[in-house]
Amino acid sequence: MMLGAQHGHGEASGKIILLGEHAVVYGVTAIAVGIERGAEASARFTDGPASALGLRVESDLVSAPPPLEVSSAGDDPVARAYRALLEAALPGGALSGGRALRVDAVTRLSPGGGLGCSAALGVAIARAVLDLTAGAPFAEDDVAAAARAWERVFHGNPSGIDTATAAHGGALAFSRAAGAKPLVLGCDLLVCVGWSGRSSSTKEMVDALARRRERDVPGFDRSLAAIGTLVDNARLAIEAGDTAALGKLMDLNQMLLAGWMLSTEELESLCRIAREVGALGAKLTGAGGGGSAIALVPSGDVARGVLEAWRAAGFGGFSTRVRARAA
Ligand code: MEV
Repeated sequence: MMLGAQHGHGEASGKIILLGEHAVVYGVTAIAVGIERGAEASARFTDGPASALGLRVESDLVSAPPPLEVSSAGDDPVARAYRALLEAALPGGALSGGRALRVDAVTRLSPGGGLGCSAALGVAIARAVLDLTAGAPFAEDDVAAAARAWERVFHGNPSGIDTATAAHGGALAFSRAAGAKPLVLGCDLLVCVGWSGRSSSTKEMVDALARRRERDVPGFDRSLAAIGTLVDNARLAIEAGDTAALGKLMDLNQMLLAGWMLSTEELESLCRIAREVGALGAKLTGAGGGGSAIALVPSGDVARGVLEAWRAAGFGGFSTRVRARAA
């Protein structure tokens, strides 16, 4: 193995899913965009029998949990995920000459917030490790494989949309069969992200939906097909810069997600408040059951209005702009 720089560095985006979460697990295409808030990691060599990982959350929406220290020899989920990532990133899963790694990672995303916190951390850590051990440029496919290994420990059967968006950024159409395809936006998209105040587990929500599906497969499949149609239309609306149509499609997607029992009182309040002050559409984003809601807004003034109204109702949030750019 070639040893590159003595410090490796990696970054990755957080994500919001505009339409198609959960349905994407069952093969439907979903649309996601990378956001500036994400994760950063640095890696260096150390001596020792096992590699170490230090994790910090720096979010203005949640009170920061205590920093986490794990060893790749440990048995908790983060330690197992770190070990899986290292095994995928490093040939044979180990460094030569009894060396180990020290990785420090920080994220501005709230864990369980529906914004791809764990995927962003996985991609940033994988990039830092490969930057250090392989020397740049390293293959993005290797980053994706290592980050997927990390994600699988937390989420069991992830569709891959979170890691793909964390790695690519920008706007993507993603399906299990076709992977990530960049989308060309007809105009910038301005989105408010509201924190429901409750974190949720993607794995639990995905498992709960799978159990629900078993109780009524034909009904589930009808909703799946409907979401597929909404996503197809949303793709056209995004490419045409028709934000009014996109907002309506997001509202319809929210109704179907609520029908799958993925919404909560707080998420419904965030959506209703945003629509009342001029959002074009609003829905939960990510796994639901808590986490975050998003609202598509037509202007900076409406974005400020939504954030103010959310704050008055006790919800934190921020706005993010997804810039139109050539694929
Ligand atoms: C979570 O961000 C998105 C889900 O569709 C799960 C997945 O795609 O792996 C709920």
